[in-house]
Amino acid sequence: MTNDVHGVVLQRAESERAYQYGFGNELQSEAVPGALPLTNNPRQPPLGLVSELVTGAAFVAARAQNLRTYMFRKRPSTTRGRLDEIDLAHFLTPPFGGKPSPNAMGWAHFDTSGATGDFLDGIRTICGNGSPKEQAGVAIHTYVAGKSMERRAFLNADGEMIIVPQKGRLQVVTELGVLDVAPSEMAIIPRGIKFRVDLLDPVARGYACENFGAPLRLPELGLIGSFGQAQIIDFKAPTAAFEDDGEATEFVTKYCGAFWATTLSHSPFDVVAWRGNMTPYKYDMNRFMAVGSVTYDHSDPSIYCALTSPGDPVLGANFDFCILPPRWVAGDHTFRPPGYHRNCVVEFLALLTAPEDPAIPAATLHNSYVPHGPATRILEMGRTQGDEPAWMGDGPVFFIESRFPLEIAKSAFDHPACLHNYHEKWSGFESRFQPD
Ligand SMILES: [Fe+2]
Repeated sequence: MTNDVHGVVLQRAESERAYQYGFGNELQSEAVPGALPLTNNPRQPPLGLVSELVTGAAFVAARAQNLRTYMFRKRPSTTRGRLDEIDLAHFLTPPFGGKPSPNAMGWAHFDTSGATGDFLDGIRTICGNGSPKEQAGVAIHTYVAGKSMERRAFLNADGEMIIVPQKGRLQVVTELGVLDVAPSEMAIIPRGIKFRVDLLDPVARGYACENFGAPLRLPELGLIGSFGQAQIIDFKAPTAAFEDDGEATEFVTKYCGAFWATTLSHSPFDVVAWRGNMTPYKYDMNRFMAVGSVTYDHSDPSIYCALTSPGDPVLGANFDFCILPPRWVAGDHTFRPPGYHRNCVVEFLALLTAPEDPAIPAATLHNSYVPHGPATRILEMGRTQGDEPAWMGDGPVFFIESRFPLEIAKSAFDHPACLHNYHEKWSGFESRFQPD
């Protein structure tokens, strides 16, 4: 893998796992030659497999938004039998029954010491809006894990999932194949696709977002033109891979905020071939091609939108997933750090390379019209910077903008990582106003 001086990957790693390229493409893959039939429902699929369809959009959805994939697998998913309800204490689903806060909120990195559970055990909800029953909104969780899910599989019927590792590499095993995902990369798992998260390092920490609304899509580029932002070719879908029958596997599904489980006699990752456009993806956030002002002032942060779950054209998206990569800033006579602002949409922001310090925010939440911007000490730095172009940032930042107020989960509000004095970063400001 070759990086330029700023860490942007300019050549692909030769040793990387085989992937298929593009976002929304019609793809097909077979792990065993001859496993993929020419038609989707042959009387007798090759190699003794069975055909199973999974859909991510209404049957008659427009072509550009239609999502469906045919799987050719050892056993149909119906063999799972009956599920019984289980409890996952910290993996919550909005609404939580509280009140969205008009206070600026911050969290330090969540502590990884003593992390003994797997990805599913280690999910702790930070905030959320909407509801899976209403098919609107987003939930934002952190995860801390100390072991792989091993013989455990998860199907989220409530939402599409975005997994953003902050620490520790992950191997995300899905029905359609395997994604290796390292910090600075993200994985997207469609709603309804079974997956498991294994650890490639002793400890893993990061964010897991659930999209209850319309499936994520690439935003239109408008006047930017046909290239830019998150580029189609930089999304990687897996190639087919299946597991041997092996040992018993716990299968867990999330449905309308509750968790249900059963024990399977086999691995549910038994898809030998598949065909369709509803696939998991991985994406390297350092590949985001940022555009911005090269004269003066700042463009709106919509230029950093990588994926969108559409909402209202005026009030805002269900949510936008935005990436703020390290980048050049070059405006003349311009205050370079993002300035003070109050927005109608809400903003959750994660600083993936924030220092490991319990007093320093690694994630922030600013609900609608909550004022925010540079800390007072940053203000002084920005006021005295020159006009020379400057490289800004040391790793990707992601932020989620949603039209709906985000409610904080009580367990995240009461957690030691919650910085209740976060608003004090703006203290100490003294007016410089001097009327002539
Ligand atoms: Fe903001």
